[in-house]
Amino acid sequence: MAVIFAMAGSAIGLGNIWRFPYIVGEHGGAAFVLIYIVSTLLISMPVFVAEVSVGRRSRTSAYGALGRLSPGKWIWKAMGLLTVFIPLMIASYYSVIGGWSVNYLIKACSLSFLSQSPDEVTGMFGTFISSSWTPLVFHMLFLAACCMVVAGGVKSGIEKFSKLTIPMLFVLVLVILVYSVTLPGASVGVNYLLKPDFSQLTPRTFAYALGQSFYSLSLGMGCIITYGSYVSSKENILASSAGTAVSDLLFAILAGFAIMPAVFAAGIEPGAGPGLIFQSIPFIFTKMGMQLPLVSTVVSVLFFLTIVVAAMTSCISLVEVGVAYLWDRYSIRRPVGSLIIFMLCGLAGVLCSLSFGPLSSLTVGGKCIFDLFDWFASNILLLLAAFAVVVFVGFVMKKEDVWDEVTNSGAFKVNVKLFNLLYFLIKWVAPVALTLIFITNFIY
Ligand code: PHE
Repeated sequence: MAVIFAMAGSAIGLGNIWRFPYIVGEHGGAAFVLIYIVSTLLISMPVFVAEVSVGRRSRTSAYGALGRLSPGKWIWKAMGLLTVFIPLMIASYYSVIGGWSVNYLIKACSLSFLSQSPDEVTGMFGTFISSSWTPLVFHMLFLAACCMVVAGGVKSGIEKFSKLTIPMLFVLVLVILVYSVTLPGASVGVNYLLKPDFSQLTPRTFAYALGQSFYSLSLGMGCIITYGSYVSSKENILASSAGTAVSDLLFAILAGFAIMPAVFAAGIEPGAGPGLIFQSIPFIFTKMGMQLPLVSTVVSVLFFLTIVVAAMTSCISLVEVGVAYLWDRYSIRRPVGSLIIFMLCGLAGVLCSLSFGPLSSLTVGGKCIFDLFDWFASNILLLLAAFAVVVFVGFVMKKEDVWDEVTNSGAFKVNVKLFNLLYFLIKWVAPVALTLIFITNFIY
């Protein structure tokens, strides 16, 4: 059961709180949210089931899973390697944002949103991320904390941590939501999320919605396969996948309603990009602080605490893929494996962190190193890896084996029609959708 908390912990993260609101803002609000919901239910959720099934059936980490289920085929081994590489790439820049969140948590605790004007607080973000040392130190601290939990093991480290933090996250986001929607001017933000404007839809909207949904559910990067390998043989895969997908979706929507009204109340552009929450939210806290300093301080601490905790449980799942690989492949023990991953991602993260400061002129195709890591991992590699998994489950694994996994060899009653629909979605709909997004990412 606890592994489900770990999966939800992996899914719920910066993708929901930091990425989702700004992508919604860049793609026109409610219409995007609708497409996001449909893609999650029709495509991402079946892919989630496919990844958990592959993990549990192979009982090995992402690296060896496909290879073990289809021995002797080099392509599945290669895909396995890809699913180890992607999370490491994501962990490198993800922990940079994790570091920003820790820094902002400390700012909230030390009342720095109260001692400056709202405009100074908004501007503070740019100054902070473009400095060299401070973001680096926080990036390392954040990554070290995640690696320590992973070194502690799956049961006593990851599962315990997630079991405690996931319910806490929901409570925290609800508190912030209530606060945010009652701000003056918040109703524009609420409407922005509720009233769809379909005239703004383009093929890119679909591509970003599905891409975001995959990212948010940690698909296509080995995390769910690896966690799937820890799922007990008694667990109902369908129920736990649906549970995780729905909680992640719910959390994203709650986060949207917690953040967008505040963005509008602050008069900030919803399409302001990655800095959105680090600029708009502190702005609100500063303004509120002028009248209600205590409330503002409490809510700001809770807000950044939510982000730090959510980011940690996700980053932990990224690190776990590498550590599980080192153990399965080279029998390297968890503490040493965690240290190796810490050094690798820490070093790559230095480049990502500095790409907002001293290395900002180093760009490829107009993208700095940080953006390049995010774009390449989430828009290219992730799609490839997810494609490999669905093709594997749809065309290489026998349909009876998938049925066997989903029903626990007949122990659970699963409606045959429902299963056939799920299988069809995995085998045909998901690969076609993934191919279309892949193409769209290049054309548009
Ligand atoms: N799903 C996580 C989030 O929403 C991010 C993540 C991506 C975690 C990939 C693991 C793997 O923030």
